[in-house]
Amino acid sequence: MRNPIHGTEMAEYTLVADKTDPARMDAGEKRERYRLVAEQAAAVLEGEPDLLAAMATVACLLHNAFPYYYWTGFYRRVAAEELLVGPYQGTLGCLRIHFSRGVCGRAARERRTIVVPDVQTFPGHIACDSASASEIVVPVLDEAGGLIAVLDVDSTISGAFDEVDGEELEAIVELLRPRRLLPMALQG
Ligand code: SME
Repeated sequence: MRNPIHGTEMAEYTLVADKTDPARMDAGEKRERYRLVAEQAAAVLEGEPDLLAAMATVACLLHNAFPYYYWTGFYRRVAAEELLVGPYQGTLGCLRIHFSRGVCGRAARERRTIVVPDVQTFPGHIACDSASASEIVVPVLDEAGGLIAVLDVDSTISGAFDEVDGEELEAIVELLRPRRLLPMALQG
């Protein structure tokens, strides 16, 4: 199968954007790329009930598909007001984030998508990697409407994310809604 982004033969099953070319994408290009990612994620995850596998798959597909994505991953809600890093791609992420802190905490607290065009101007922004310049955080809800995680994406270019990313990412995290963490089998 040819990679539909570059028409190359590499990365047979993953859309791979050129990260050395951080060109901004216009709204139409973004929508089309998100459509491809959503289509592929739905196909790969069909019949798979596990939430962790779904988060890892979504983080991988998104991270590779967009040239302006630098850190892409999930923070799971592990206590009433605490998030813990989950599946991600990129440089080292902070482990725990309280709801009172950072962009992730605010998105979790307010249960809404937060777009930060310039992280330097966001009070309380948590800099896991100083290369990050802009950020978007999208809440992940379960079937009962409870917050189970947030999806966090960082970019090294300022103003990388807008309402198109917000709408499309909100649609993609809907894929996670019916899934649950499967317990690990500790004994044969
Ligand atoms: N910047 C985030 C913390 C997570 S890292 O970016 C991976 C925040 O302020 O919540």
